Amino acid sequence: MISDNAVSGAKTQVLDSIEAVRVWRHNAMKSGERVGFVPTMGALHEGHLTLMRQARAECDRVVASIFVNPLQFGPKEDFGRYPRTFESDLQMMSQAGVDAVFFPSEQEMYPDGRESVTRVVPNPELADCLEGHFRPGFFTGVATVVAKLFNIILPEAAFFGEKDYQQLQVVSRLARDLNLPIQIVPVKTVRELDGLAMSSRNVYLGEEQRLLAPLLYKTLTSVKDAAQSGKLSLQEALERGRNELMVMPGLELQYLEARNGDTFLAVTDFELPTVFLVAAKLKEVRLIDNIVAR
Ligand code: PAF
Repeated sequence: MISDNAVSGAKTQVLDSIEAVRVWRHNAMKSGERVGFVPTMGALHEGHLTLMRQARAECDRVVASIFVNPLQFGPKEDFGRYPRTFESDLQMMSQAGVDAVFFPSEQEMYPDGRESVTRVVPNPELADCLEGHFRPGFFTGVATVVAKLFNIILPEAAFFGEKDYQQLQVVSRLARDLNLPIQIVPVKTVRELDGLAMSSRNVYLGEEQRLLAPLLYKTLTSVKDAAQSGKLSLQEALERGRNELMVMPGLELQYLEARNGDTFLAVTDFELPTVFLVAAKLKEVRLIDNIVAR
């Protein structure tokens, strides 16, 4: 069912307090509507809009959130300079047919201070490797804020991009382990024409780094193709990919790994589905990407 908002192009309603969300949610509940939720940190791009359009297509009401969650940033990371573009985000959300956006202050989310908040510790097998290894505490920060947002919004479905594949695994497992009655819906990565996965952090890329960045997707594709076609073993394909990236000046490879696409467990041989994941720093900008062989 399409809501009035999508039809009329009405403005997205801004909900800046938990109390305002409760009232909005209560009204949706009264009319038996299915609420779809898209959590974001703002600085919206086509990738986010795809999540929102999918929520729009599958749900009666769509609510997004914009909250740059300090709990998921390390002390040396970019919390302070993370792009904050609320006015243009709001316009984009209105065009994508988002009914309401929860836009809380840090005080609203962490009234007793972020340091003292009860943490949600995600499954360590999923959360301690790859991103979790390079960004200690990141997934605890994500799991904590996502659990809080779920409890505030009480959505029937929540939409997460495959671009953050490990995050999607962590959140799906969180919902399952805590018996949250929320369907976690994965949404395909949206790419620029040259293959670069869309990300709010792409705006940090200088001219040189921007030219180099599509190499990550190119390498992922050739590693996947070599392993899937049987031309190389999985380990050989990964090794070749790593070697290609490691010799690139200006690119600092952090990992290029393969995991089972469903369980996220390590794989030694190619199997279906396999997800190939990469992280690299281009000067100070850290990019991640992945590709799934299904
Ligand atoms: O993917 C993101 O933007 C964030 O990690 C999320 C899910 C909004 C939690 O802060």
